Amino acid sequence: MTDSSVLIDMQNLTKVYQMGETKVVALDGVSLSIDEGEYVAIVGTSGSGKSTLMNIVGLLDRPTDGVYQIRGQSAGELTGRQLADLRNREIGFVFQQFNLLARAPAWRQVELPLFYANVAGSAARERALETLAQVGLADRADHKPEELSGGQQQRVAIARALVNRPSLLLADEPTGALDTRTGEEVLALFEKLHEEGLTLVIITHDQEVAERARRVITMRDGVVISDSGGAGTAAAGGGSNGLSEPALASLPRPVAIVQVEEKVYEAG
Ligand SMILES: Nc1ncnc2c1ncn2[C@@H]1O[C@H](COP(=O)(O)OP(=O)(O)O)[C@@H](O)[C@H]1O
Ligand SMILES: [Mg+2]
Repeated sequence: MTDSSVLIDMQNLTKVYQMGETKVVALDGVSLSIDEGEYVAIVGTSGSGKSTLMNIVGLLDRPTDGVYQIRGQSAGELTGRQLADLRNREIGFVFQQFNLLARAPAWRQVELPLFYANVAGSAARERALETLAQVGLADRADHKPEELSGGQQQRVAIARALVNRPSLLLADEPTGALDTRTGEEVLALFEKLHEEGLTLVIITHDQEVAERARRVITMRDGVVISDSGGAGTAAAGGGSNGLSEPALASLPRPVAIVQVEEKVYEAG
């Protein structure tokens, strides 16, 4: 672990929302470091600040105060355009709602982010098909969302998030709209992606989902109240999930967060 490189680093992040007369402190001083290849779950009750943190980690929002670095680069020093470029390159997003286009076949959905990366034509289609194969949907490329199960739809959304080959995959309640069985499909895919070296940060309030991760960070009232271990923490592994970090996690591979074109994300 000591040899692996830091992907994201947060120092004393705060986020304060001004609601008319009152201030809502969504993050109250969060310091965390996550290495490349880690598989991290962030848990906590509703309103604890998980989504706010994810928006900052995903470069969708800026903190009120504190320093956020991705690969040693301070996000606070970047213009909006630079942030967008960095986000498109490094981060893929997955949300509870799959946000798929109703009429488009799976390969089209997955291909879409490539146009923003100036990859088009047969190269784009080929990359989309490859990525669908990566999530186990090679034989569903021509299916529209209504012809797919919930778990399959979420895997299409994950493929869309991965098609630009991001370093980090950020998922906010990715199994929230799925039943246990189809949710399991998604968790099995995360496991595979982790083994392939992707960095995963999964936000959930579901303890079963968290137990699949290698490191569990618990938030309450905008602060981290426990961290089962990992980069920058003194605590040893083997927290609530009882798992230690495998050697795999230190492989020099990128992290993955899933892709959104717009800020389709809803707080809460
Ligand atoms: N855009 C916003 N404006 C005002 N308050 C917000 C906004 N987004 C989140 N909050 C508040 O910040 C706190 C943390 O919210 P959030 O990060 O969505 O928590 P979680 O994802 O853990 O449920 C909550 O009190 C929430 O009401
Ligand atoms: Mg949330």
